[in-house]
Amino acid sequence: MTVPRIRGAKGGEPLVMITAYDATFARMLDEAGADILLVGDSLGMVVQGRDDTLGVTIEDMIYHCRAVARGTKTAHIVGDMPFLSYHVTPQEALRNAGRLLAEGGAQSVKLEGGTTVVPVIERLVAAGIPVMAHVGLTPQSVHAMGGFRVQGKTEQDATRILDDALAVQEAGAYALVLEGIPGPLAARITEALEIPTIGIGAGVGCDGQVLVCYDLLGLTADLHPKFVKRYDQLFDRGVAAARVFCEEVRARNFPGPEHTFGVAKRPRAVG
Ligand code: KIV
Repeated sequence: MTVPRIRGAKGGEPLVMITAYDATFARMLDEAGADILLVGDSLGMVVQGRDDTLGVTIEDMIYHCRAVARGTKTAHIVGDMPFLSYHVTPQEALRNAGRLLAEGGAQSVKLEGGTTVVPVIERLVAAGIPVMAHVGLTPQSVHAMGGFRVQGKTEQDATRILDDALAVQEAGAYALVLEGIPGPLAARITEALEIPTIGIGAGVGCDGQVLVCYDLLGLTADLHPKFVKRYDQLFDRGVAAARVFCEEVRARNFPGPEHTFGVAKRPRAVG
């Protein structure tokens, strides 16, 4: 899956993007047919156990991108640019984005923001680094937003998000994540843009959908956002399986003979 094919998917069959953070999950989601694997900075919350994504570093992102790249055959890999990796100067952003591609094996990068990140997007695109943009609820601005809150509920805020979307398209972004905005606004933005939109908590009117893999598989036991559909309950099933293991070890039922190596039989001495 390439950037031109993703761009070309505008208005066609919806794009499927799923987050992945390691080689095993990448292999699983790639085999399931995801078009795009996003190595999201959400790993700060679901893998590292933080309350938000702000503490994730560029080194963390390179490490996880590299693992995902090793497990992926077909899907396009997007590496998320973490907080402060693109905010200081466009030059620094270029170095960090370049590292996600050169060292991490990502094929494009994603960054949050609208009109304010236009110079950064232009710099990266000019250097041949494809950029997926991200507007609406932008988790790296959690404190400015006063929490993880749905954005674009007033006409004024909706207009600001539409302007952001048009600005990042104009700057050269090849696709746009719309997060945490009302469905009708997402549909309006999708209609207004030439690049595909990929929604999360933004309704069905986008050109694609993305979910955090831990959410869709039911691994995040304590979080139940309205926009998440759980396609399994892997946390509960994991607890149940590990509990049986605990019981079998304590009862000396594991390991059985079939899990145990024997010793080689000595050849009989002759004479
Ligand atoms: O970091 C992430 O997982 C994301 C998605 C929620 C779009 O940015």
